[in-house]
Amino acid sequence: MTQDASNSGYGASAEALIAQYESITFEQVHRPVLRYFPAAPGRALDIGAGTGRDAAALARQGYSVTAVEPTTELRAWGEAHHPASIRWIDDMLPALDNVHTLGERFDLVLLTAVWMHLDTEQQRAAMQTLAELVTPGGRISMTLRHGPVPEGRRMFDVSADDVTALARAAGMTEVHRAARQDMLLRSDVNWTFLVLERG
Ligand SMILES: C[S@@+](CC[C@H](N)C(=O)[O-])C[C@H]1O[C@@H](n2cnc3c(N)ncnc32)[C@H](O)[C@@H]1O
Repeated sequence: MTQDASNSGYGASAEALIAQYESITFEQVHRPVLRYFPAAPGRALDIGAGTGRDAAALARQGYSVTAVEPTTELRAWGEAHHPASIRWIDDMLPALDNVHTLGERFDLVLLTAVWMHLDTEQQRAAMQTLAELVTPGGRISMTLRHGPVPEGRRMFDVSADDVTALARAAGMTEVHRAARQDMLLRSDVNWTFLVLERG
């Protein structure tokens, strides 16, 4: 198991979280940004993949998918319940050492509800990592969660402007930004969707 403070609380709540993550679909979550995803086939990297809901949808579309998930309980569930073609890796931001050893670059990188787990220093290092993993012209699609921190988890306030500034310094530009209400209808939670492109 890969563990640091950023994924604290996930293992202990895995059963409830699996049901929650699988109660919505890839299309419901990503519909507003699907037009920004490079067309399949291609290489996709889903970082903080959770149960693999999105990794599975991308695999069905014809992407070659690598799913990174540090929480053993979530990764094991995904490996057991989603297409065997998904390559699962136990690893975590900011370094993604195990992903780096693959020596591959990706056309599409997803970070769905992950960035807010990283502190400022980790965000800076993570953006460098991402820049090294995306193909020229490739895209990163991320969602930023805004709202109260669930008990037992570690989250920070995140701003789309800060993410875009880090991305610019790492050679990437913002191609789309949108505010979004919570899919699970929590009135105190809302989201920013951001799509970045590597030059
Ligand atoms: C809110 S869940 C989202 C899961 C999935 N992306 C989804 O949309 O259903 C956040 C995920 O990020 C993972 N995570 C936490 N810290 C991480 C890190 N430093 N690097 C990669 N993943 C991390 C957690 O284990 C958890 O699966």
